[in-house]
Amino acid sequence: MNRKKIICSCRNVTKGDIADAVKDGADSFKEVKKQTKVGKGCGKCKKKAKKLTKKLLKERVE
Ligand code: FES
Repeated sequence: MNRKKIICSCRNVTKGDIADAVKDGADSFKEVKKQTKVGKGCGKCKKKAKKLTKKLLKERVE
């Protein structure tokens, strides 16, 4: 995973930021949003961020 890849350009949130939020205990997209501020600008990254969060949560469980 390229941790430096920007997911949300409004808030400068990278894949790594989202991965860290999940690692640090965020267990829903809502929590990830709270921790990283992803999607709190224009909102166009939400779909992408949500998908990534889901994937990471699944990986964490496995
Ligand atoms: S790109 Fe994430 S809120 Fe605009």
